[in-house]
Amino acid sequence: MCGIVAYIGHRDATPILLEGLKRLEYRGYDSAGIAVLQGEDGTTLDQVKSVGRVRVLEDAINAHGGLPGSIGIAHTRWATHGGVTQANAHPHHDDVNLGHGIAIIHNGIIENYQSLRIWLTEKGHVFSSETDTEVLVHLIGELYHGDLEKAVQSALREVEGAYAIAVICKKEPGVMVVARKGSPLLVGIGKDEYVVASDQSAIVAHTNQAFALDDYTVAKLTRDSFRTTTVDDIEVTAEVYKLELEIEQIELGNYKHYMLKEIFEQPRALRTCIQGRIDHRAGQVVLGGVNEFGRDLARAKRIVFVGQGTALNAAMIGEYLMEDLAKIPTDVEFASEFRYRNPIVEEGTVVIAISQSGETADTLAAMKEARQKGAMGLGVVNVVGSTISRETDAGVYLRVGPEIGVASTKAFVGQVMVSALLATFIGRRRFLSQDQVTTLLDEMTAIPGKIERVLEQSDSIRDATSRFVGRENWLFLGRGVNYPVAMEGALKLKEISYIHAEGMPAAEMKHGPIALIDDGMPVVFIATRNSQYDKVISNIEEVRSRGGHVIAVATEGDKDIARLCEAVFYVPDVIEPLQPLVSVIPLQLLAYHAAVLRGKDVDKPRNLAKSVTVE
Ligand code: AGP
Repeated sequence: MCGIVAYIGHRDATPILLEGLKRLEYRGYDSAGIAVLQGEDGTTLDQVKSVGRVRVLEDAINAHGGLPGSIGIAHTRWATHGGVTQANAHPHHDDVNLGHGIAIIHNGIIENYQSLRIWLTEKGHVFSSETDTEVLVHLIGELYHGDLEKAVQSALREVEGAYAIAVICKKEPGVMVVARKGSPLLVGIGKDEYVVASDQSAIVAHTNQAFALDDYTVAKLTRDSFRTTTVDDIEVTAEVYKLELEIEQIELGNYKHYMLKEIFEQPRALRTCIQGRIDHRAGQVVLGGVNEFGRDLARAKRIVFVGQGTALNAAMIGEYLMEDLAKIPTDVEFASEFRYRNPIVEEGTVVIAISQSGETADTLAAMKEARQKGAMGLGVVNVVGSTISRETDAGVYLRVGPEIGVASTKAFVGQVMVSALLATFIGRRRFLSQDQVTTLLDEMTAIPGKIERVLEQSDSIRDATSRFVGRENWLFLGRGVNYPVAMEGALKLKEISYIHAEGMPAAEMKHGPIALIDDGMPVVFIATRNSQYDKVISNIEEVRSRGGHVIAVATEGDKDIARLCEAVFYVPDVIEPLQPLVSVIPLQLLAYHAAVLRGKDVDKPRNLAKSVTVE
């Protein structure tokens, strides 16, 4: 997803902007650019744009002779409208002849840009790109009458869609106007300076005081002040809060990739996730964010999880956990489908939005749709202060630390652990006995140590993976709570190694996909000891009899299964509801090693964004 960084202050803007863009590279992008106001009177606006990585932009700026100035805007573009070209890269400018030297960077989609473009063209505007963003800045230019803040407000009242923007104008050298609807934007407050960015990772090097813009909010920044209003110029109060992120948390350290770092961080991440939330003495779960809703949750008639991608896979495990432990009818929905289906939301419905970033547009919209129909909304989110976390009635933060790798790993296990904590919290208020809860809490507490034992097998998992990495089609199969793990294993492999992989319930294979199995096809089974183990073994036999090569995730001590498999990744024994927390680990490592062996860009896989803030 696009990255936005902007600076207004007394320091040289370009180094700050470039460092900020590098902090946002993990979001996924294909081009980049910077525009800077120059001279104390700001009478010139200079810029450099380039296709490719930020380092290409850095080289282009050096070749350009630098970009001096203390007010600037910078952008990494993830193409939505228009191809990956230098012309389409941001920043964009208003009309060369009719304009006022206005530059903009934008994250989001202006849905009515075509009609606006026609109207502006009829007024003589000439466009140089295919983007919706350029239409927006031409509209601002058309509505500019000497006050940039007012021109931005007027223009935003005319547009439909999502935006996070930063705008500067050479006629107003000491001013920057920023605004947001649907795409996140934070304003970091420094000493006589502000750093604006799509997320906190580009701000924390400069300040830990910030405010997040709400939808339809506009902020006018000068070097020593800011003013926040609605798009109708009604003053609103900005809620300043402390950013929790420490810069060390987002450093790569001694790891080759963020994804590998975050895979190995999972034991520590889960210890932080459960810290203070398991009271062994009282034998109960303590969730400050939802405690006051305990009675309402215990009386819920239906629970609906909504999410996308990995978060949806975690939600599928949440469904099993809620029905098993809380005994409440539970569904899982693609957020993107739920939001448009005019869903039936009856009294007593609780919707749980699962999201690492807390900014996924479809998940946010699904949550809003459900709450609008009367549901209680809970958020299971990692990023503190993110939009979803601010749009719910209550929630539980993952507390697994910032996740930089595009392929989600520690957030997934955090989402599953929080779902287990929630299910136990509710279950104890319904039918779970104290002994059952005590067992669950002991098992949850033991999980990080058990994951550590799986991580020790990373090299052997790499060696096994190397034997199959040339195969272009894989199946991932599991039953019960391990069926979503099969989905997650397939997604991991797809998104970073570009191998085609499909996850499904093991029994479903016989209803068509078994036709895919040919000699040597890798088929990964999650075959840990549990209530459906024997049925999984039967499925393994069916695959083997058709020439498939079986890779199994099995329980330590299960020697029998080895005779059926080309490779076995052993995990410690865990009670069935919590098995996904360990059975997913070998699959994360498998995907990681496959991508490295295939020479792929593990942390910035092609076409992908870390947070999909557009529909
Ligand atoms: C998972 O590895 C992907 N990066 C992607 O599927 C992701 O899980 C999905 O876009 C949801 O993101 P969220 O958790 O930030 O809402």
